[in-house]
Amino acid sequence: MLTYKVAIAGFGGVGRATADLLLARRPCYLQTYGADVRLVAVCGSRSGLIDTEGLEADRLSALPPALTGPDFIVASGADILIEAGPTDFRTGGPGLSYIRAALAAGTDTIVISKGALVHSGNELRQIAMTSGAMLKLSGAAAAALPTIDLVEHSLKGCEVLEVEGILNATTNYLLDVMMTNGLDLETALRDAQRGGFAEADPRNDTEGWDTACKLLILANFGLDADLTMNDLIVEGIHSVTPAHLKAWQQGGVVPKLVGRIGRIDGLLSASVGIRTYPLSHPFALVRGKDKAIRIVTDVMGETIAIGAGKEPLATAAAALKDLEHILAARAAVSRSIQRTSS
Ligand code: HSE
Repeated sequence: MLTYKVAIAGFGGVGRATADLLLARRPCYLQTYGADVRLVAVCGSRSGLIDTEGLEADRLSALPPALTGPDFIVASGADILIEAGPTDFRTGGPGLSYIRAALAAGTDTIVISKGALVHSGNELRQIAMTSGAMLKLSGAAAAALPTIDLVEHSLKGCEVLEVEGILNATTNYLLDVMMTNGLDLETALRDAQRGGFAEADPRNDTEGWDTACKLLILANFGLDADLTMNDLIVEGIHSVTPAHLKAWQQGGVVPKLVGRIGRIDGLLSASVGIRTYPLSHPFALVRGKDKAIRIVTDVMGETIAIGAGKEPLATAAAALKDLEHILAARAAVSRSIQRTSS
C-alpha cells in the first residue's frame, strides 16, 4: 500500500469542500489505487487562522496554526499540494508562491485558482518538468465542465481546429435572466447578488476576465499555445443595453458570453465576447449557471459537452479527479519499479 500526504493551501469555500470530499473518498482511493491518502495540513493563503472544526484529518494539529507560504509546504511534508487560494491573474495571487515551492520540491500539485496559471503558466510548467512533479489543473479550467480532459484524453489523436465555450456561469445566468425577464444588467445583477448567484464584486465575471483566464489555461496547457492575456481581445457583458436585448429577442437569437480559440495559418488565437445563437443551437439551450464547450477537430468531427455542478463541491470534485489521475500514474510507476526489481 502506498501512502500519500496531502496539503491544502487556501481554505475558503472551495478548499474546505475539497478537504471534506477528500476525507469522504479515502476508502475509494484505497480500494481503487491501493493508496492511503492522508490530509496532513491545511492553511489559509493570506492568514494562518482557519476553521478546521470537524475535519478528521491525520496530523493537522501538529502544524503551527499561523504557518503559511512556502514554509508551509516544507513543514507539511506533503507529497501532493492542492492549491485553492483566491485567484488574481494580474499578480499570480497568493497561490503562486505555494505552487512554485511545491513544484520545485518535486511535490505533485493540483491547482484550482486560475491566477498563477495565467500569470506564470510557462514558468510553472518548466519547474514541473525539471523536478518531475505532476502539475494538474482541471479545477482551474471550468471545473465541472470537462475541458482539459477532452483535449488531453478524449480527443487525442486529432488536431483541434476550433474551441468555443460558455465558460462563466455567472454571465450565463445574468444573460439568461435578462433575456427571459427583460431586465437590464444592473437589476439582474442586484437580484443575482441577493440570491447568491453573483459575487459582491462581479467585474471579473461581467467584464469577461474569468472566461479569458479559463480560455487561456485551456489554450496554453491543453493545446500547447503560448498566449498571454495581452494576446486576447476580451469583451464582457457590461455594455449590453435594453436595445441589444430587444434586437436579439426580435431576431430569435440567444446571446452568450463565449470564449473562442481558432487557428489562423496554424497559429492559435483567442478572444472573449458576446455571440448570438439561433434557438436550435445547443448553446442556446445552456441555461442558468450551466456551462458548455464545443470543440471542432480535423478528423474526429465536433464534440459538445454541457455541464454544471453545485459549487463549491463541483470544483472540489474536479480537483479530486486530478488527484485520482495522480494516484493512478504513481501506482503505475510503482508497479513498474516492482517488476524491474523482481
Ligand atoms: N465566477 C465564476 C463563474 C466561477 O461564474 O463561473 C469561478 O471561476
